[in-house]
Amino acid sequence: MLRRVLLAASASQRVRGLITTAPVTRDVVKRFVAGDTAADALAVTERLVGQGLSVTIDYLGEDTVDPEQAGAVASEYVALVDRLSAASLTVGGKAEVSVKPTAVGLGLAEHGEKTAAENITRICAAACKAGTTVTVDMEDHSRVEATLRVVGELRADFPDLGCVIQSYLRRSPGDCEALAVAGSRVRLCKGAYQAPDAFAFAARSEIDRNYARCMRMLLDGDGYPMLATHDPRLVAIAKSRVTTIARDPGSFEYQMLYGIRTDEQARLAAEGAQVRVYVPYGDDWYGYFMRRLAERPANLTFFLRALSSRH
Ligand code: FDA
Repeated sequence: MLRRVLLAASASQRVRGLITTAPVTRDVVKRFVAGDTAADALAVTERLVGQGLSVTIDYLGEDTVDPEQAGAVASEYVALVDRLSAASLTVGGKAEVSVKPTAVGLGLAEHGEKTAAENITRICAAACKAGTTVTVDMEDHSRVEATLRVVGELRADFPDLGCVIQSYLRRSPGDCEALAVAGSRVRLCKGAYQAPDAFAFAARSEIDRNYARCMRMLLDGDGYPMLATHDPRLVAIAKSRVTTIARDPGSFEYQMLYGIRTDEQARLAAEGAQVRVYVPYGDDWYGYFMRRLAERPANLTFFLRALSSRH
């Protein structure tokens, strides 16, 4: 219930105004976001790579309604990849980027899919030149078909373009089956959005069961699974499956969000697993921040306590 309210609030301009102007918000946001600028993201990336972790960087923003803005977001990514490359952070794909399709134009009223495909192509070309990869994030259920179409089309030129499957969607096992093929980079997450019952599971137990099912399909397949979860039970299931099928530790990775379960990130890496941290930056952090609050009531309590202690 609380999750639904928070996710609905993430789309409300009025709540956005209240939250983003509260003086204390920035302190709480800092836990999940590297900072406002590419320089902030670079500094965090350097630190994490120095700790033996890999990184995927997200320039925050979504639901762009202006083609010029969509192009500007792509340019920001191209400049970011160039800076990562100049700092030798793209070597071996240590630092890559994650892109939200609606940030680069998918939701435009006209030619959205074409615009997103062109902008992602520009980012992929820069990443390819720098020796690293791009992963296309998955947004709400209404974007899934178009996003998978764009990724499928661009994989002809950029076979290592990654995509995301969300286990809260009923359709996901079918998508995993189609995507568990050689060279296919697939991030599996639970899903951070709301969707009608016809499309998605609502119960945590069903979402988790579907995650375990999808994970097994990806691990048993020929692609490159990217297991994005902080859930200790699912990580344990992954470890057990990897041992049973003797999967090479270099043939898959765990992924977690910046600021969440950092001890577990370090522990997995120390055990010899590949671990990639999702590092967001930029000043358009509202939607991302609200989804993090929605995932965990304790985050909301912490935020509300911080708010009230300032008044
Ligand atoms: P779950 O929510 O059950 O959490 C398990 C445990 O992890 C919690 O008990 C807690 O300890 C910790 N935890 C989880 N979230 C926390 C939080 N916000 N604050 C503090 N602790 C927390 N979604 C999407 O729809 N599209 C996408 O493209 C992506 N991309 C993506 C990339 C990466 C690298 C990750 C890790 C996640 C995503 N997600 C995403 C988000 C994902 O769908 C999901 O909402 C979160 O990962 C939380 O789900 P968990 O699997 O961690 O389980």
